[in-house]
Amino acid sequence: MKTIVLTGASKGIGYQTALKLLESECQVIAVARSTEKLQELELETSSSLLKIISADLTKSDDIQKILECVSDTNGIDGLVNNAGALVNKPFSETTADEWEYIFDVNLFAPVNLIQSLKPYLNKGSHIVNIGSMGGFQGSDKFPGLAAYSSAKGALGILSECLSTEFSSDEISVNCLCLGAVQTSMLEEAFPGYQAPVQANEMGSYISDFVLHGHKFMNGKIIPVALNNPE
Ligand SMILES: NC(=O)c1ccc[n+]([C@@H]2O[C@H](COP(=O)([O-])OP(=O)(O)OC[C@H]3O[C@@H](n4cnc5c(N)ncnc54)[C@H](OP(=O)(O)O)[C@@H]3O)[C@@H](O)[C@H]2O)c1
Repeated sequence: MKTIVLTGASKGIGYQTALKLLESECQVIAVARSTEKLQELELETSSSLLKIISADLTKSDDIQKILECVSDTNGIDGLVNNAGALVNKPFSETTADEWEYIFDVNLFAPVNLIQSLKPYLNKGSHIVNIGSMGGFQGSDKFPGLAAYSSAKGALGILSECLSTEFSSDEISVNCLCLGAVQTSMLEEAFPGYQAPVQANEMGSYISDFVLHGHKFMNGKIIPVALNNPE
């Protein structure tokens, strides 16, 4: 049985990814801040393979809670850094606090989590960082998303760097740059836009990718998009 740590599992893409991983008989350590929403996931699946952890990934004490849970397992086979946050505001109006918050959630939280969990990552494991088309070099850019897109861009480069550093430990690292998926985050970024992909479809893709994608690629920044919102 594979053990997967999945962040941002309380709603949207992460919630659906958790359901798919559980269907594949994986043990899932599902992390998000909202206890209530994680309990909804628990109710929906009623799987004994699910462990929920309420944690704010920007707080080191909360990362400790994840470590305690992971230390009771036989190691981790996959880590999906899916939790993300967005500020949609013209660049000139964004504050230093907003930049810090966006980088904390989208970049520094994955950095801290990967560093903390590294000793528990089994040989043959796969780290999947969830980026965005906004952070993919050469993609169309949209006004208001400078902080978010910059943080996601850095997450992609981090993935390339770590794939090299971790290769001797047989740990693969890839970054999926998602296009539009129908979730509350998309509605915040592009109100009224109808995405061509639903959260359950992307959850299915990510679940399959974390379990099998690293047999075919490593250190890749991969656009996963049909189109971009206009
Ligand atoms: N939807 C899209 O079109 C799209 C496109 C490109 C990339 N993405 C990326 O895909 C990922 C999932 O997005 P989504 O659309 O499913 O977003 P979402 O519905 O807003 O879900 C975000 C998840 O992140 C968690 N989260 C946020 N801040 C956190 C923190 N400080 N600590 C722990 N958990 C935190 C939230 O849980 P709590 O609030 O309970 O903490 C929630 O479970 C994100 O990384 C996003 O940037 C999405």
